[in-house]
Amino acid sequence: MSNPKISIEEFVKFRDLIYDACGIFFANNKRYFLEARITPRLQIHGFSSFGEYYRLIAHGSRGKEEARKLLDSITTHETSFFREMPQFQALKSEIFPKLIAEKQSGIKRIRIWSAACSSGEEPYTTAMLLSEDPTLSKPPWQVELIGTDLSETILARAQKGIYSEYALRNTPAPYKLKYFAKVGYEYHIKNQLRQRVQFSQLNLCDAVKMKSMRGFDLIFCRNTLIYFDFRSKTRVVEDLCNSLVPGGYLFLSMTESLFGVSDRFRTTRLAGTVLYQKVVEP
Ligand SMILES: C[S@@+](CC[C@H](N)C(=O)[O-])C[C@H]1O[C@@H](n2cnc3c(N)ncnc32)[C@H](O)[C@@H]1O
Repeated sequence: MSNPKISIEEFVKFRDLIYDACGIFFANNKRYFLEARITPRLQIHGFSSFGEYYRLIAHGSRGKEEARKLLDSITTHETSFFREMPQFQALKSEIFPKLIAEKQSGIKRIRIWSAACSSGEEPYTTAMLLSEDPTLSKPPWQVELIGTDLSETILARAQKGIYSEYALRNTPAPYKLKYFAKVGYEYHIKNQLRQRVQFSQLNLCDAVKMKSMRGFDLIFCRNTLIYFDFRSKTRVVEDLCNSLVPGGYLFLSMTESLFGVSDRFRTTRLAGTVLYQKVVEP
């Protein structure tokens, strides 16, 4: 029996449901992509139409749980350690020394948030660099490192900290040796590093929860806003800006830009990469 096809009306219903839940927007040309991603969920439930599956999510008693699974199946979790290396070079050689100098006479505390951290490679990379820093790795400095994502399934993987060789393809050899235990073909993050990152579930479009995220010196939100439309991107960027301290930095991917999205940041070029710095408001 051939797989059911998604009609234009069903596509619109799923598109709107996904958009309202997490800000990801599927344009009309993504109809067959969405069909392919949702089809396995239909098969698991033994449904023969997208309409039946939609009713389960919208009206069924297990709707919420199934909506989570649907979002897991349509989101892209692609990531790796030391992804976009120049940004981590800037972190190590420019941002850390700058924060140390700025906070020398005050509270020696730094707060870093990896928003949309997927399976944890991004915050663990930051944790490695912090552990290597001669100043920040020791008291009295306290560095809080938080990793959040929409997906609880992917966060469970982050918490486990078990990776393939492929996830470590950009990782310099000394870091591989120092921070991972090789078990067969797997690389297990060592406990001392695992304990440095606190993971929790957070939807960037949850305005109430976003309000509880305040006082961060640095925020990573890379390779995520590209899936959002202008409206949800603008709203999330505004919230992320509110979460940063004045002068704090937002790391986007090198292929992303805030042009036309927010005037509360200025671009700054550091160590061959572009970062966004929150403007100090009068
Ligand atoms: C491509 S990964 C990026 C991982 C990492 N930041 C990097 O650049 O390597 C995108 C992540 O964004 C998460 N995501 C998508 N929509 C989200 C939302 N509304 N709130 C929080 N996370 C979201 C997905 O679950 C996925 O893990």
